[in-house]
Amino acid sequence: MAVTIAQLNSADRAAFVATVGFTFEDSPWIAQEAWSRRPFANVEALLAAMTEVVMSASLERRLALIVAHPDLGGHAARSGRLTVQSTHEQAVAGLAALPPSEMARFDELNAAYRARFGFPFVICAREHTKRSILVALQHRLRNDRATEITAALEEIVKIARLRLLDAVA
Ligand code: GUN
Repeated sequence: MAVTIAQLNSADRAAFVATVGFTFEDSPWIAQEAWSRRPFANVEALLAAMTEVVMSASLERRLALIVAHPDLGGHAARSGRLTVQSTHEQAVAGLAALPPSEMARFDELNAAYRARFGFPFVICAREHTKRSILVALQHRLRNDRATEITAALEEIVKIARLRLLDAVA
């Protein structure tokens, strides 16, 4: 059942983190810090506060957040080692059961992206299809690293927004 913004506003830090700590992949520190910015008028205000926490964090922490994301169509997805949210997001984009030729293409491009930038390719999978993800991956491989750090963080905020809208009434 969805939690209300009023319930979140009156939650103590531990309950708040237990409820919305999943919003950013494997990075509950974002909810932890956003808690002090209560009360939030609505979900968008909560997301804005969490986004501010991310954007004002050190480069090291922002990179760790990007690195926390699993490869789309990657090994973790195939072996069922994803979080509940990631499993859903990859399935929505049609990545749950890729034929071998497409799997190989994802592996090749994900590896090229990691080799070039040192972090995984992140795009908001729920806003894409497997085809549009491959097109974007090829295109973004041509960018420089600073552009990709910015792009990855923007996509992570889109992922977080959809997760929050699912969880908060
Ligand atoms: N890795 C790259 N994009 C995504 C996404 O939308 N969701 C998850 N969980 N991991 C990703």
